[in-house]
Amino acid sequence: MPSVASIDLERVRADTPGTANRIHLNNAGAALMPAPVIGAMKDYLDLEATIGGYEAADQEAVRLDSVYDSIARLVGADRNEIALAENATVAWDMAFYALRFQRGDRILTAQAEYAANYVAYLQVAKRMGAIIEAIPNDGTGALDPQALADMIDERVKLISITWIPTNGGLVNPAAEVGRIARRHGITYLLDACQAVGQMPVDVAQVQCDILTATGRKFLRGPRGTGFLYVRRSLLAELEPPMIDHFAAPWTSPDGYTLRSDARRFETWENNYAARLGLGVAVDYAISIGVKAIQARCVALADRLRDLLREIPGARLHDAGVRPAAIISLSIQGTDSAALKTYLRSQSVNVSVSTPASTLLDATSRRLPPLVRLSPHYYNTEDEIARAVGLIRRFARSS
Ligand SMILES: Cc1ncc(COP(=O)(O)O)c(C=O)c1O
Repeated sequence: MPSVASIDLERVRADTPGTANRIHLNNAGAALMPAPVIGAMKDYLDLEATIGGYEAADQEAVRLDSVYDSIARLVGADRNEIALAENATVAWDMAFYALRFQRGDRILTAQAEYAANYVAYLQVAKRMGAIIEAIPNDGTGALDPQALADMIDERVKLISITWIPTNGGLVNPAAEVGRIARRHGITYLLDACQAVGQMPVDVAQVQCDILTATGRKFLRGPRGTGFLYVRRSLLAELEPPMIDHFAAPWTSPDGYTLRSDARRFETWENNYAARLGLGVAVDYAISIGVKAIQARCVALADRLRDLLREIPGARLHDAGVRPAAIISLSIQGTDSAALKTYLRSQSVNVSVSTPASTLLDATSRRLPPLVRLSPHYYNTEDEIARAVGLIRRFARSS
């Protein structure tokens, strides 16, 4: 394996209480939070309990506000381009449903698009008569930029893709898509839910107009957190599908004034403890180094794939040339859900991706329910080997 000396494994594991009890290979589901994240949230809840919710928010206003700076730094944005949300789906929906579609407008998306996004396209198609089209893949199973370029005409209203899908390690060519979108002046919405926290993400480099992500996955933040980036020049055009008096102060008896920043996509009441936890998780990732995180994630995932391939009947389904740290596995004659349950009984966490989570991709590739293994930088080579040993044992006995 390549050297990943820049991560102090002992320290990050000491910071991660969950590693003492379990082999956690479900970071694409929800990663283990590090101690500083847990501590920040507990302390904040204690403060709320001690002095009151509004009073705690006042006292910690500076730290709460700095969460925007942290996220902006992580993705190369301006803090005014960031909105916080309770998950990636709400962030995504707020931006997507702010776009205006007319009959015949085309929405171009990826084959491995996430179900939550796709059903929203379907709803807009039903309501407005927009047309949804999936961009073909190249021979490796990644979105084909040339095929995208060939699809562009004046009716394309939106290019909206998932960077790394929920069901495997495919890394779609987000920056190449961005170049095409920018060249043609088409709005580009990027679902970076499985990318943020496991690899560098720079909105200027990928040239997306809108980007969404969640807190609990590779970013190692708390559940119930997510964020939205909207490029400044697009903000003024986007009226959120729902507003309250935070997003749009009530400025006259018959009028409101939308905020000028991305927080027009937020509402007034929030889980401040979770927000603080998200900010600490972002700072933690930045302090470790996102490039170092990516290098170790990829190295561990490669090792895991190599070992899994040796199991008789095992099939790996990750597409693309250089897959990320999500591994999708099926084993002939073995039920994926049963394997997950068995592994959990042995203190190994994995999840199962069902075909409905990426229906187009699963249908075209005839994917069965897949065991999804997603290591993170705090996993060890020994954990990987032990997990594979258990999978081998289960497969043999099936
Ligand atoms: C690719 C992708 N997009 C979006 C989401 C939705 O994220 P959230 O559950 O935070 O809304 C997920 C969650 O699994 C995902 O894998």
